[in-house]
Amino acid sequence: MNVFGVDIGGSGIKGAPVDLERGDLVAERHKVLTPHPATPDAVLDGVCEVIEHFGWSGPVGATYPGVVVDGAARTAANVDKAWIGVNAAQKLAERVGAPVTLVNDADAAGIAELRFGAGRGRTGTVILLTFGTGIGSAVFSGGQLVPNTELGHLELHGHEAEARASTRAKEEGDLSWQHWARRVQKYLAHVEMLFSPELFIIGGGVSRKADKFLPLIEGIQAEVVPAQLRNNAGIVGGAMAAALASRPAGSASHPHPAATTLTTPDLGSAAGF
Ligand code: BGC
Repeated sequence: MNVFGVDIGGSGIKGAPVDLERGDLVAERHKVLTPHPATPDAVLDGVCEVIEHFGWSGPVGATYPGVVVDGAARTAANVDKAWIGVNAAQKLAERVGAPVTLVNDADAAGIAELRFGAGRGRTGTVILLTFGTGIGSAVFSGGQLVPNTELGHLELHGHEAEARASTRAKEEGDLSWQHWARRVQKYLAHVEMLFSPELFIIGGGVSRKADKFLPLIEGIQAEVVPAQLRNNAGIVGGAMAAALASRPAGSASHPHPAATTLTTPDLGSAAGF
């Protein structure tokens, strides 16, 4: 089964049809630049452009870099504040004429990594953290996701963690890998103190350069590994969320009642997807 996945980020909007059996893109992804100001209408124009590029007319799963509840954005840490309260899933569904599911970007990356990437087969507490403009988080236990965990906004030494340890903080502060890795290490130690995960998966664009900073991180008891789907995790996870959302309630492989509504995906069972 193929579903369209689209990842809405601070700098780009990227999408492609996704083969859900393989967890991979069916065609090379298409990207447009995120408009600025990144208001909902301007961004949704970009999303439609990406979808139209493929002539796609079926269901769409989209990711958003903030808290999403029932298809509506609740926060907007790194995008235009006009998103807050907007049911972007519904708006987009009206424009594309097909069901649309909207989920948090890190949650999408997490379900993709748990099913097809670095978290495959892991049933303990697993935490995926995406490092980019902000820090996103996806927390799993027994293969079940707790959505919208927002661990990037934890306070650490009097600062919001993402203001100190995101890759944006690295770039803006012109920090060396060593310096930045120390901040990431402190952040991981803090999250570990709270959740004692068995595995941290490090995602976001910087996961491509894992060899530059993961060897510098010490003293974390959990395994710390780079994400495997790299920049496509959001697209794949968005598409997975849309497929999960459209499963009928009571189906053997997905017995959760929340799965009946199209804009309220039950992202819980990534492992059993
Ligand atoms: C947002 C999260 C998002 C993360 C990565 C944070 O600022 O609050 O919802 O997952 O950035 O985009």
